[in-house]
Amino acid sequence: MRILNSPAQANGGNGDRKNLDACTIVIFGASGDLTARKLIPALYHLFKENQMPADFRVVGFARREKTDASWRTELRAALDQFSRTKPVDEKVWAAFANNLFYCQGDLTDDAAYKKLETQLAGFGSGPLRENLLFYLAISPSQFGEVVEQVHRCGLLNKEGSAWQRIVVEKPFGHDLASAQELNRELTRYAHEQQVFRIDHYLGKETVQNILMFRFSNSIFERLWNRESVDHVQITVSEKIGVGDRGGYYEEAGALRDMVQNHMLQVLSLIAMEPPVSLEAEAVRDEKVKLLKSIRELSPADVGKQIVRGQYFAGAVNGDPRPGYRQEVKVKPDSNVETFVALKLFIDNWRWSGVPFYLRTGKNLPQSASEVRIQFRPTPNVLFAAQCGSQLDANALTLRLQPDEGIYLRFNGKVPGTTIDVRPVRMHFSYDAEFGAYTPEAYERLLLEAIAGDATLFIRRDEVETAWKIADAIRTGWERKPLTNREFYAAGTWGPIAADDLLAQLGHTWHEPQLLKKLANQ
Ligand SMILES: NC(=O)c1ccc[n+]([C@@H]2O[C@H](COP(=O)([O-])OP(=O)(O)OC[C@H]3O[C@@H](n4cnc5c(N)ncnc54)[C@H](OP(=O)(O)O)[C@@H]3O)[C@@H](O)[C@H]2O)c1
Repeated sequence: MRILNSPAQANGGNGDRKNLDACTIVIFGASGDLTARKLIPALYHLFKENQMPADFRVVGFARREKTDASWRTELRAALDQFSRTKPVDEKVWAAFANNLFYCQGDLTDDAAYKKLETQLAGFGSGPLRENLLFYLAISPSQFGEVVEQVHRCGLLNKEGSAWQRIVVEKPFGHDLASAQELNRELTRYAHEQQVFRIDHYLGKETVQNILMFRFSNSIFERLWNRESVDHVQITVSEKIGVGDRGGYYEEAGALRDMVQNHMLQVLSLIAMEPPVSLEAEAVRDEKVKLLKSIRELSPADVGKQIVRGQYFAGAVNGDPRPGYRQEVKVKPDSNVETFVALKLFIDNWRWSGVPFYLRTGKNLPQSASEVRIQFRPTPNVLFAAQCGSQLDANALTLRLQPDEGIYLRFNGKVPGTTIDVRPVRMHFSYDAEFGAYTPEAYERLLLEAIAGDATLFIRRDEVETAWKIADAIRTGWERKPLTNREFYAAGTWGPIAADDLLAQLGHTWHEPQLLKKLANQ
């Protein structure tokens, strides 16, 4: 992982640009949503902040007829909508747009790759032709074809002095077998080290900060174990329903959409051992080790440790919502889960016996992602008589989004003549500390891919280990339709069974709190 230290770097100025090789980014799927919404805005901002290599090109590849000029015009219009800084700086855009080129073709057509090869050859015989980042913003079913074709025409090589890399988006398969097949296709013509699998969660500042927070602060790290931690809660809640993504969601469900990737990534960063260095392989080795130490789930365990749910009609903050089964492109008797809660155990020296609770769902009362480390309570001897149940165990909450920050909850004496103790909070807010500079996840990820640093990308064995966990849960659910206890009204925190899951060990879910509101209290 590249550490940016200077304030100028932290503020987005003066990157490592001089160290970055000249290269060409080839985007397959250049006329699609991801390109317009994320990729081009991210590249524009990197350019604006002087972080792109001194010399670079972007070639967009897709079927639709376009010229360089019409593609640039479309992307400029999209930037008005999707840029994180407004208004768009026209001078910067004009300079950036000079580097954008469009290559029209069908990716099943050999001739299209010849055209691409010729276009790249037009950039000379140096690094702009040789150093290539292939961004596959297309369906995973098309990855194999593209990788084979670019290899066949000499654009992707396993060896050589120049570099070629492939960036792919989730979903990385829909189960272990399909992920293994996809990985085989990707690595047929490229080494694993050339494959950069994006989980945009890892591009978030707050998620990267988990490692910095844990391993650069001795006060917390020495509490980070079974001696001090009672349990951990990871919540990724969404206020939105599936909306017009019903077709996709019917194939995915909350487990595949959120848990297999984002949530297990967050869990591995929270619970992993310190890596021997910040090198990509060292960090990823520890993440895989952690995933492998999650206790395996038999179908019987799934019944006891995993709760799924599906929303029925209700209202989120007064806004009426249809039930999942009434959503467009959803089967009227669908059993797909829109909510899942898990109780996982990590069978290693540090975490033995500590429950890790994960939950995610749609149409919940709030959109928030956070990790709550709940410490063990003190012996209830000194203040029990006076304070009773008001005495809270300490908790540390890492808010990943929104209101990014960290807060520590501990007990304090209420001023006055009585011995009243109540929970108080210490609160760090990213906004207050660092201002509003929050680069989009894709900016960091694209920059790391150009630099060839794979720390923030998912390695093959990580994906496959995570799928093993998800597959075991799906096996436990097989041929079991949802029961009444597994439905929840839109606008609530999931089915009652999710509360029961924690109640088994005397725990309760903590609702994410609005940190901004807390700061003003
Ligand atoms: N959109 C997001 O925010 C997002 C987020 C995470 C992951 N993803 C993943 O990223 C990938 C792309 O998503 P998207 O939303 O951008 O999809 P999209 O809007 O449907 O775009 C698909 C792109 O693929 C191109 N394409 C399809 N078949 C082609 C062919 N035979 N030859 C050449 N080009 C072809 C399309 O070009 P033409 O139509 O011009 O042929 C279009 O540019 C998907 O795997 C998706 O799951 C997307």
